[in-house]
Amino acid sequence: MQIDVFTLVPHAFGWLTEQRPLAAVLGDELVLRLFNYRQYSPLRAGQVDDEPYGGGAGMVLRVDVVAAALDAVYGGAPEQRVLAFTPGGRQLDQELVEELVAEPALTLLSSRFEGFDERILEHLATDRISIGPYVLSGGELPAMVVLDAVGRRLPGALGSEESGLEESFSAELQGGIEYPHYTRPAEFRGWRVPDVLLSGDHARIAGWRRAQSRARTAL
Ligand SMILES: C[S@@+](CC[C@H](N)C(=O)[O-])C[C@H]1O[C@@H](n2cnc3c(N)ncnc32)[C@H](O)[C@@H]1O
Repeated sequence: MQIDVFTLVPHAFGWLTEQRPLAAVLGDELVLRLFNYRQYSPLRAGQVDDEPYGGGAGMVLRVDVVAAALDAVYGGAPEQRVLAFTPGGRQLDQELVEELVAEPALTLLSSRFEGFDERILEHLATDRISIGPYVLSGGELPAMVVLDAVGRRLPGALGSEESGLEESFSAELQGGIEYPHYTRPAEFRGWRVPDVLLSGDHARIAGWRRAQSRARTAL
């Protein structure tokens, strides 16, 4: 899969790409390309934003700048889905993540300032994505959230010590919440691990975990 990110701060993605799970799939199952809008700006001094028509606070990411960047990279409109991050978009959930993982390529558009010129959302993006009902200062964290959530679903992303199978919201748990985990010590400050987990009875343990998952999901 190829993911192209357009941003004003490509270096912000350094940390994420050095860590598992992304580091495990980079250059293999995942080709990640980072593009700086500023580099493709047709305006003097790499200008990328401007004051909003009608007045108001803040600056707006210009449509001609984003179009120039997409044209330069794709030679026109990209064939893949183009996700623009905006607080009012479709809220990201595991269902949407699975939908995105099935795509051969994605383009992620982040913005800063007051957001995108509306024509970017209308004509250049295919999807408006929100990572939650709150306002961040830019689209880099949302882009990283998508990168991480999608990247960890790619083959080879998770090591043998992690499993993507029975995670919260997975198909295996029918979209439910994961059961609780415990490790050593079996008792700490009087807080005991449930006896069933120490029983060695795998069928009982599996039943207990299913029941816990159902109860948490219901809650
Ligand atoms: C300061 S925000 C702009 C907020 C915008 N003026 C509004 O009221 O909806 C700047 C940029 O951060 C990104 N952003 C902020 N919060 C987000 C969220 N919850 N989900 C996705 N993107 C977000 C978007 O790219 C947005 O254009």
